[in-house]
Amino acid sequence: MCGIIGYIGNNNALPMLIDGLKRLEYRGYDSSGIAILRDGEIHLQKKVGKVSELEKAAPLKDYTGSIGIGHTRWATHGEPSDVNAHPHMSNDGTIAMIHNGIIENYHTIKTKLEKLGYKFKSATDTEALVHLIQEMKKVSGDLETAVRLALRQVDGTYGIAVVSSQEPDKIIVARKGSPLIIGVGENEHYVASDAAAIIPYTRQVVYMEDGEIAVLTKNTFETKTIDNVEKIKQIHEVTFDIEEIEKGGYDHFMLKEIMEQPETLRNAMRGRVLLNEGNAKLSGLNDVTLLLENAQRIIITACGTSWHAGLVGEYMLEQYAKVSVEVEYASEFRYRNPIIKPTDVLFLISQSGETADTLAALREAKKKGASVLGICNVVGSTIARESQGGVYIHAGPEIGVASTKAFSSQLVVLSLVTLLIAHQRESVSHDVLMTMCKELLDLPSKVEKILKDTSQIEKIAEEFKTSNNFLYLGRGYNFPVALEGALKLKEISYIHAEGYPAAEMKHGPIALIDENMPVVVIATKDSTYEKIISNIQEVKARKGKVIAIANDGDDHIDTLADYVIKVPHTLDMLSPILNVIPLQLLSYFIAVKRGCNVDQPRNLAKSVTVE
Ligand code: AGP
Ligand code: GLU
Repeated sequence: MCGIIGYIGNNNALPMLIDGLKRLEYRGYDSSGIAILRDGEIHLQKKVGKVSELEKAAPLKDYTGSIGIGHTRWATHGEPSDVNAHPHMSNDGTIAMIHNGIIENYHTIKTKLEKLGYKFKSATDTEALVHLIQEMKKVSGDLETAVRLALRQVDGTYGIAVVSSQEPDKIIVARKGSPLIIGVGENEHYVASDAAAIIPYTRQVVYMEDGEIAVLTKNTFETKTIDNVEKIKQIHEVTFDIEEIEKGGYDHFMLKEIMEQPETLRNAMRGRVLLNEGNAKLSGLNDVTLLLENAQRIIITACGTSWHAGLVGEYMLEQYAKVSVEVEYASEFRYRNPIIKPTDVLFLISQSGETADTLAALREAKKKGASVLGICNVVGSTIARESQGGVYIHAGPEIGVASTKAFSSQLVVLSLVTLLIAHQRESVSHDVLMTMCKELLDLPSKVEKILKDTSQIEKIAEEFKTSNNFLYLGRGYNFPVALEGALKLKEISYIHAEGYPAAEMKHGPIALIDENMPVVVIATKDSTYEKIISNIQEVKARKGKVIAIANDGDDHIDTLADYVIKVPHTLDMLSPILNVIPLQLLSYFIAVKRGCNVDQPRNLAKSVTVE
């Protein structure tokens, strides 16, 4: 989890490391730290809280070496604190290490090392590994071999970077289950958990694979497996722009990302909608066309917002492609020994492409012989690389911890997959497929319309910013949107919110409704419209406050609900893409008005690369 940055070259490492750490802040973290090598000594500074706290901590500014490592931590073992922050040092003070991930067998290693006299300062799992490296160095003599020998004893996940005052001309890095890239510069090298940290310095990167270790010096990088087999790695060019990851004039990344959706939806469809054929062109699925055509079941697995997208996908695929679909939380799927047949196709949905549970579900399904396909945003991410095929959503970097533009783009891609399979199977008429294409292409301008004036939503937010609870109701395609609306509100405003299929309300949640309960109802004109109107009446009869999302021109609903947010009409299957947008804005404005840290909500991380 969280951020790794490292530099070796001729320049002063400190400003670059601080800058890199700041670029990684969006991932969410609780503390940070830096180690710099100078004059045969390791200079260390660690601080709980923001990177700005670390920056202020004297005597950091005097650390002038040209080799260093930095880390933003998201605690898994031991509370966020100065002492638990990384880097961690070996007992003899010669080795410093940063680590993303979890050392699962750290307790066994720690007990063994304590018997040998090692003293532990922190409560982290990471510290066991740095002491183990020191111990292995007694056997191997050199740092690289010591790291390899130590890693061979470790169960769990890691992205690590290690420096030693005894070999002050190198950084050793290694990866298993936690993303890591090497940046190649002129007479300098970088290491980072994420390209965002280093793109101002270099766009030439090498993606490390699981089980690989690399030795970086100023002028060289050598890659091997941890079993000491040499690996030749390709250098790739990072193409996304630094401006893409800056706020672009908005107060928060989240708002910027909400506002970007007309463009991100266009990007998700670009060159992929074949209007006249009523088909989709998805080159990442070319090699699996037959598999998709013959699939007897599609399983979609994901976490959080991506899982909500999967639920909408289920409705789409079953209605149009007539294929049976199951959607499951990746964290459940991976452990319940699911029955998987060779005719099953598994779709993994993940914005980051690094979510630990989703990746584990992918590997589990692969082991059982299923075909695995990814729907990811981050190009070159682990899930994307380990899938047999897939579709990138091309939403650009999503920095706000709360996922917004990735969700709508995931839905567009799921519609395209539905279009493709429905076309293959001829499960619906050509006219239906053409309508789907047309409606898809119309979506960006409809989203523009919703985003044009957000003042009404801001006013509603003002009205409800002090509420303690919210209920979100939707039916059919919009039930997952209710879940997503509730998740957005919880994540960034810390207001308790629940999403329900509207008809379930009378089976329990109705007991909660009184004049203090705002109920957001997604009531656009689809096949369940009449039923949802009855649900609104049930809420009103108990004095609940109804905020309805309804279609332009629906005057009837104005007489029933307390507040009505109007959106353009589209096909039922595409309505979640429009309906979710006012819900994203509502949660955004409420969170801002409550003074919350919208882009980095407490306790959350952008990509959950640990279990
Ligand atoms: C979304 O707002 C959340 N931060 C979270 O639920 C997220 O969707 C989930 O962790 C999955 O992430 P992924 O799409 O990168 O796999
Ligand atoms: N497991 C380590 C810790 O708790 C690393 C956490 C992280 O990935 O930031 O310190």
